[in-house]
Parts: sequence; C-alpha cells; structure tokens
Amino acid sequence: MNYATLAAIAQEARAHSYSPYSGFQVGAALLSSDGRVFTGCNVEISTLALTVCAERVAVFKAYSEGVRSFRAIAVAASGPGYTPPCGACRQVLMDLAGTIDVILVDSSGRIEILTTAELLPHPFGPENLRRLHDHPDTP
Ligand code: THU
Repeated sequence: MNYATLAAIAQEARAHSYSPYSGFQVGAALLSSDGRVFTGCNVEISTLALTVCAERVAVFKAYSEGVRSFRAIAVAASGPGYTPPCGACRQVLMDLAGTIDVILVDSSGRIEILTTAELLPHPFGPENLRRLHDHPDTP
C-alpha cells in the first residue's frame, strides 16, 4: 500500500472523531508489516485527561488483535498545517511499533514524512528495563 492511500484512510478515519470538547478532529491509519490497516480517531472524555488520541487508538486496536509489527502510521487532523503526534503518543508508538514512518497529512491531503525516531530521539524503552534486570544498581 502506498502512503497516499494510507493518508486517505487516515482522513476517512477522522470522520469518526468524537471530539465534542475541543472540536479538533484527528484520524490515524496504522499499516502493519503484513499489509493490514488499523484505523483510529481521537475519543474525548468529559474529564478531558482521559481522552485518547487517534494514534493510540490505532496501535491499541492492532495489539488487541495480536499484530506486533508495523511499517507506518498516517495522521490526519482538521486544523491548519500538519499535526505531529503528542508526546504521549510518541512514547507509545516508539515502545509498541519501534522506528516506523509517520505520515503527516494536512487538511488538503498534502503529506510530510518523518519517522518515530526523529520525533522521539533518545527514547526510554524496554531495553532500559532489561539492563536494570541484567545489572541491578541496587542490592
Ligand atoms: N489529538 C490526537 O488525537 N492526536 C494528536 O496527535 C494530537 C492531539 C487529539 C486529542 C484531543 O482530542 C484533541 O486532539 C485536542 O488535543
């Protein structure tokens, strides 16, 4: 699947956004290594802090179906310009998808391609925890 198609699927997913508080609609489309696409949209909660971003919905949907290997995620927002993933989503994407392409889609469908590694340099990850178990600092 090419990135223009993945971007179009993210734009379609944005239509399902549940964002009555911010009015800011986001759609995501996550491409797995076996060619499947998992969509997501932002889902807002009245307490606001429990809101889940489109990117995390997509990656959790994929994990919940046993999919663990990915190539790219497209993110389409309703605001002007590109909407890069928030800090929480960068951590989740790096942890659960590793280094993959991130296709940012603006409201007119133009795309810009980055990677998760560019968006989150020097990430904390599972390797940090493994090192602790292999070489504990404390008795
Ligand atoms: N949002 C996303 O879904 N993804 C992003 O990358 C940035 C922000 C959502 C969360 C919230 O529902 C709304 O956009 C405004 O922050």
